[in-house]
Amino acid sequence: MFDKKAYVDAQIEAHRDSYKREYEKSCVKFVQSLVERVGRVEVLLDMGCYNGLEAKFLCKVADRVVGIDLGEEYIKAAKDRRIPNFQPLVMDMHELLFEDESFDVVFANNIIEHSHSPRIVFQEIHRVLRPGGRLIYAIPPDKFRSEEVDFEGCDYHLWIADPIDIHKEISKWFDQYTVEVKKLPQLTLINSDWYMVMGEAIKD
Ligand SMILES: C[S@@+](CC[C@H](N)C(=O)[O-])C[C@H]1O[C@@H](n2cnc3c(N)ncnc32)[C@H](O)[C@@H]1O
Repeated sequence: MFDKKAYVDAQIEAHRDSYKREYEKSCVKFVQSLVERVGRVEVLLDMGCYNGLEAKFLCKVADRVVGIDLGEEYIKAAKDRRIPNFQPLVMDMHELLFEDESFDVVFANNIIEHSHSPRIVFQEIHRVLRPGGRLIYAIPPDKFRSEEVDFEGCDYHLWIADPIDIHKEISKWFDQYTVEVKKLPQLTLINSDWYMVMGEAIKD
């Protein structure tokens, strides 16, 4: 049987030691390239907002940013940033406590791989997006990760996906979407080439 408490505890534990961290330079560039895809919108959901790392970028392109994360301590740290148009909330991405069609954009950077049921997550994202709204995502292709590359948090990825898996799950809910594989600059964190699957999906 699925043990929800064990799942939540493990996910929070995964990032506990570093929840005060800020991005290193190459990560900032990557996040900015993802944020650029947003354009200008009214309401954006930052799924897996952690300690509000990305909120400072997202709040410049959205009038209102709602952030969700499982970790109460991460949400507290996010609130401590006191970003005026940022509302961080403790919430599980599998059960979004929002009305249908609430958001122009769902921003999901390095979060869906932490899901125990990605199909439910994509369904929830689709439900909370307004018609014409977009999912902007980045998911590591862990199926391609070499044994030697082990970095903090990796063990807590439950969805070990490749681009075909990602394509399959997104296509259950969205007709229009992209699945792009990008090679990114080396990260000191993993001391290795870094690949990411990223893209967008539009709700009809
Ligand atoms: C790798 S961090 C990504 C944080 C941020 N988006 C980034 O890219 O830097 C993953 C975050 O997802 C959160 N998380 C894991 N499972 C979750 C779930 N089911 N619902 C909401 N947040 C979750 C963790 O607490 C953690 O803060």
